[in-house]
Amino acid sequence: MTVINRSRLQDCLAHEQQRFIETHPRSKALFERAQQHLLGGVPMNWMVRWAGRFPVFVAEGQGAHFTDVDGLRYLDLCLGDTGAMTGHAPAASVQALTEQAQRGLTFMLPTENALWVGEELARRFGLPYWQMAMTATDANRFALRLARAITQRPYVLVFNYCYHGTVDETFATINDGVVGPRPGNLGPAVNPAQTTKVIEFNDLGALEAALAPGDVACVLAEPVMTNIGIIQPDPGYHAALRAITQRTGTLLILDETHTICAGPGGYTRAHGLEPDLLTIGKPLAGGMPAAAYGLSAEVAERVRSRTPEDTSDTSGIGGTLTANALALTAMRATLEHVLTEEAYAKTIPLAERFTDGVQRVIKEFDLPWNVARLGCRAEYWFRHEPARNGGEAVAAYDADLDRYMHLAALNRGILLTPFHNMALIAPDTTEADIDFHTKVFRESVQALVG
Ligand SMILES: Cc1ncc(COP(=O)(O)O)c(C=O)c1O
Repeated sequence: MTVINRSRLQDCLAHEQQRFIETHPRSKALFERAQQHLLGGVPMNWMVRWAGRFPVFVAEGQGAHFTDVDGLRYLDLCLGDTGAMTGHAPAASVQALTEQAQRGLTFMLPTENALWVGEELARRFGLPYWQMAMTATDANRFALRLARAITQRPYVLVFNYCYHGTVDETFATINDGVVGPRPGNLGPAVNPAQTTKVIEFNDLGALEAALAPGDVACVLAEPVMTNIGIIQPDPGYHAALRAITQRTGTLLILDETHTICAGPGGYTRAHGLEPDLLTIGKPLAGGMPAAAYGLSAEVAERVRSRTPEDTSDTSGIGGTLTANALALTAMRATLEHVLTEEAYAKTIPLAERFTDGVQRVIKEFDLPWNVARLGCRAEYWFRHEPARNGGEAVAAYDADLDRYMHLAALNRGILLTPFHNMALIAPDTTEADIDFHTKVFRESVQALVG
């Protein structure tokens, strides 16, 4: 099996860095100017983590492509890390947004579109009651609060190296066998070990042991882990997860924010899962901030009996701009016309084409890598066998290799999702786009090991 030569990797990386700087003078100039009034030269701290020495500044995007301020055009396989899974500026969402913008943006009052959205989410995911949030982070925070409120239990349980947004309780990992703040976690209010139990995904023994004392309000899980590579549940894992949570009186919250790539009703609907709560954000409104969480009839009833109307504004759940008229209009248009069955019928076969292409190259160069797919999402990881849990996956993380593959792709006109090697397919992506990626992936690998 091919072993990556580290000094050659450094040479390839240096070469790509130089090429990036030379071909992006305008982005470089904007980044330098931005140092004066934007912390770190970016409007949001993660934007410093792109593979180049500075981020590409965007001019505009349409469908599966965007153009930067240097006039370079990219195939976008990042798609705003799922925020733009619909493709950029989807026509139906944009038209609805434009019309609504002229009729008012926010009222702190419901509009009729909210009913349509609630009905549609119930139809798609099978949970009867819905509430809105601005972001998936918010939806998760609210779901955790509700779970603690109605169970009167202190802990939540998450899986090692999960990601559910910037939710304090979920920024915990197993470090040398001990639960504590995830590396990088800034200023946690308390050590998350006080709020959170962390176990590895696919470990039923650990799940039994963690839930046995009856002090865990809820398990918060992606049905398939997607933020540390794509980690599939073992056969039977979900049935066991549901049985153990039910037996111990623990609520099950499934976060479908990324796994909505599996189909119009997410992985939950595609696999007949029955969570107590379900959270989702990102692509729901075509790129406009909007999120939602759903509740089973039983959870809804327990919530009702615990949330008096006269203190609902101080419940810790809500937000002034949440469920605003613009977001609900965008959600309706996106669910009705963009994130449709037909869209998935197009994007899932393209993701299969993507994984087939990457797999061929892995085989050709005998690389110790694997490629996985979930619906219209695909990802390669620098490990021979797919990981079964976050601990295994993170052990195979290779920062330099990751940076090189991203930068080589970017220099050839392809944007991959940062922090990992993820590609998402939009309804406007074409077979030619996918084949272009396969070609670029092969060239990048060949330069490294060929
Ligand atoms: C599974 C999952 N849930 C929630 C979130 C948080 O989304 P947002 O940052 O839009 O709040 C993310 C973000 O990557 C995610 O991957």
